[in-house]
Amino acid sequence: MQIAIVGSGYVGLVTAACLADSGNHVVAIDNDRAKIEALRSGRCPFFEPGLEELAGKNMRSGRLRFSTDLARGVADARVIFLAVGTPPRADGSADLSAIESAAVEVARGLTGPAILVTKSTVPVGTGARLEALIAANTPHRCPVVSNPEFLKEGSALSDFLRPDRVVIGADDPAAGDEIAELHQPFVRNNKPILRMGRAAAELTKYAANAYLATRISFINEIADVCEHLNVDVNDVRRGIGSDQRIGHHFLYPGLGYGGSCFPKDVQALASFGRAAGADCQLLEAVHRRNLAQGQRMVRRVLDRLGENLAGKRLAAWGLAFKPETDDVREAPALTVIEALLKAGAQVAVHDPRAMESARRVLGERVTYHPEPYAALQDADALLILTEWMEFRSPDFRRIAAMLRQPLIFDGRNLYAAATMRRYNFEYYSVGRPPVAMQRDDVKT
Ligand SMILES: NC(=O)c1ccc[n+]([C@@H]2O[C@H](COP(=O)([O-])OP(=O)(O)OC[C@H]3O[C@@H](n4cnc5c(N)ncnc54)[C@H](O)[C@@H]3O)[C@@H](O)[C@H]2O)c1
Repeated sequence: MQIAIVGSGYVGLVTAACLADSGNHVVAIDNDRAKIEALRSGRCPFFEPGLEELAGKNMRSGRLRFSTDLARGVADARVIFLAVGTPPRADGSADLSAIESAAVEVARGLTGPAILVTKSTVPVGTGARLEALIAANTPHRCPVVSNPEFLKEGSALSDFLRPDRVVIGADDPAAGDEIAELHQPFVRNNKPILRMGRAAAELTKYAANAYLATRISFINEIADVCEHLNVDVNDVRRGIGSDQRIGHHFLYPGLGYGGSCFPKDVQALASFGRAAGADCQLLEAVHRRNLAQGQRMVRRVLDRLGENLAGKRLAAWGLAFKPETDDVREAPALTVIEALLKAGAQVAVHDPRAMESARRVLGERVTYHPEPYAALQDADALLILTEWMEFRSPDFRRIAAMLRQPLIFDGRNLYAAATMRRYNFEYYSVGRPPVAMQRDDVKT
């Protein structure tokens, strides 16, 4: 099958590489020239485990190519995926300008009948709107099918190649059949291809993200209650997660959710839900709780080190919004760091992958350290902001020796209280009783 993918970011490039790998001929298109140049030279412009290798393998086999020329790219394609961004507007609603202009460009480039598939996360009714836009710009028949993407950055390839389910929303059954067929190679382990109407598929994606975000905000709220009542949230988390009706997933208290999806999707769902007349109080509360979560850590630092952090140096481990990615979009780590800078602190940062993307946001206002322990030199405290694997069992003696005082603020609950006591750290985490130093030589 000849396939064109418009938008070669996290979703578009993964889709392109995986569909090429199953035998299709794919052109991945982007209007970012630098991105396409990088891809052509065999380099993935962002970090996603295994993606550079899979894209390279399929490029060498001749089944995957890259282009900035949308009209030429879609001319021969039977199926065209839209995987451009749908970022939030200031009021929380989804900005559909990129996807609408891409759909018009696609329509103008068509040379025959085709199927347009929305991979981007789009509000209910967008597929219908795109179908009308396309009909106004081409004489060729081109139904629009919704095929929301559920991949997670950091494990995007396995999520795409072995999905829990594939959702296909089509009001045109024949178009839905073709898109279902395209996904057959990825569901040979009997995972379902769920067929439904287009509007239901559009809503399914938002509901899935909003539910996961709700679990995170829920456990963060329980963590808040725990802190006020001197209860360890880990006990409560294990206690509820062991109930099969609840489970353990997405019940980890921390700095709140980030990334390019959960924050914007919760707000967009509340926005189009409200516009349709629904009462979306829960979603609004989930979002508010999430915004508060990073600030709670900042408050703890200020309570401990003083409102004015001028002259204080803080080491931050972790910048990415989660491990195994270099994506810092809506990363809680950056919100925390911005607040600490505002309070006058000097901040020394380390992240295994995300320092370059963070530099584009933070510039030279922080110092960057390719080696984690170097960031600790003369720091008044260590802050854990992303739960990278390599931060889980660090050399605590070395940390204690390098810091001005053995003080850790852990926004990801990585360390056991017993370990912190053994190494004699003063330790603050989320929803767990703080650990005090055993000696009374705590300096501020
Ligand atoms: N990132 C994820 O984990 C994830 C998961 C599931 C769904 N989604 C959804 O998928 C969509 C894309 O997300 P992403 O993270 O891949 O975004 P991204 O920003 O990484 O990639 C989007 C790409 O589209 C390109 N683009 C924009 N307009 C274009 C145009 N007119 N022509 C050609 N290229 C154009 C941009 O240059 C960019 O490279 C969003 O709607 C998002 O909500 C993302």
